[in-house]
Amino acid sequence: MERIKDEVVAIFKFQKKPKGSPCKATTYRVFYFMKTKNYGLPYMGSKSKIAEHIINILPSGERFVDLFGGGFAMSHCALLSNKFNEVFYNEINPLLVPLIKDAIAGKYSYENFKPPFISRQEFHERKDLDGYVKYCWSFGNNGITYMFNPEIEKQKRSLHNAIVFNEFDEFFKSLFPDFKGWQINDIKERRLYLKTMLRKQAKRIDLQQLEQLERLQQLEQLERLQLNTGSYSGYKYKNGDVVYCDPPYENTAKYTSKGFDHKEFYNWVYNADFPVWFSSYEISDRRFVVVNEKKKKSLLNVARKTITEKIYTNKKAFEISKNLHSKKFLF
Ligand SMILES: C[S@@+](CC[C@H](N)C(=O)[O-])C[C@H]1O[C@@H](n2cnc3c(N)ncnc32)[C@H](O)[C@@H]1O
Repeated sequence: MERIKDEVVAIFKFQKKPKGSPCKATTYRVFYFMKTKNYGLPYMGSKSKIAEHIINILPSGERFVDLFGGGFAMSHCALLSNKFNEVFYNEINPLLVPLIKDAIAGKYSYENFKPPFISRQEFHERKDLDGYVKYCWSFGNNGITYMFNPEIEKQKRSLHNAIVFNEFDEFFKSLFPDFKGWQINDIKERRLYLKTMLRKQAKRIDLQQLEQLERLQQLEQLERLQLNTGSYSGYKYKNGDVVYCDPPYENTAKYTSKGFDHKEFYNWVYNADFPVWFSSYEISDRRFVVVNEKKKKSLLNVARKTITEKIYTNKKAFEISKNLHSKKFLF
């Protein structure tokens, strides 16, 4: 699958000095610049960073079925992968399907939407009604706590209003006394310009809320997609479906107040008479085969420990995976 390029990431590698080199250094620092794509919405537990890896592991098929769709990263990646003709996105949280539909319809493009700054109070009033407010304005996209602490909120509002509405208050003027007004029309360009200006002053004040909004913009005009609000248990298998599940993991963040019944889910996967692949860390149920493992830094714990993401299968999916890429897998 093609890697889609979007945002620049620098990778530093050390290599041994080549033989015969006149250079005294024992190591050479080589800079690689590559670009990674963010898939889907800003969302806690998003698979954006490893979506391509997972899609590569799965077989191709008529329809990719994303039963715990959350922030849409897997569905988005599947749509762009050309491995499937259609994508079925399912999610129990009722705010997500409308948010995705709006993003696809272009509601969040800067041409249609000049985002007002959302205060802490507005966030708490609207977060359970409006998916945009809930996910783009919450801390770590957890949908629960407001993005900024009280001291920083005023500064963020100042920069936000300068970029979006050409409003320059005392805080902005104190940062940029020589600023004569924008020569740039595009809001994203203004944000990036301001970021550079702040860096020059050794100040790190990001406009995360606009960066999050720009992630919604990349969903515009996606097609070949069915969106459904409901529980995974209501899904009906169709021939040609590739069923992937990314449920809440054992002992990690809760997505609903009721929590998640892992036992019921494992029984459902085990008894399904169709292939099912699912992601998790270590699980308490021993009936499934791991067909792939990948180490990554967890964003869900503060210490950012390295954790191993695994892909489990039921018997039917295991047979398919075994025949697909036997060398790549663990068995
Ligand atoms: C780990 S997140 C999925 C993240 C997603 N793959 C992404 O990349 O953004 C798990 C999701 O399952 C949803 N969920 C919880 N219980 C569910 C159920 N019974 N049926 C469908 N979705 C459910 C949660 O609301 C949450 O969005």
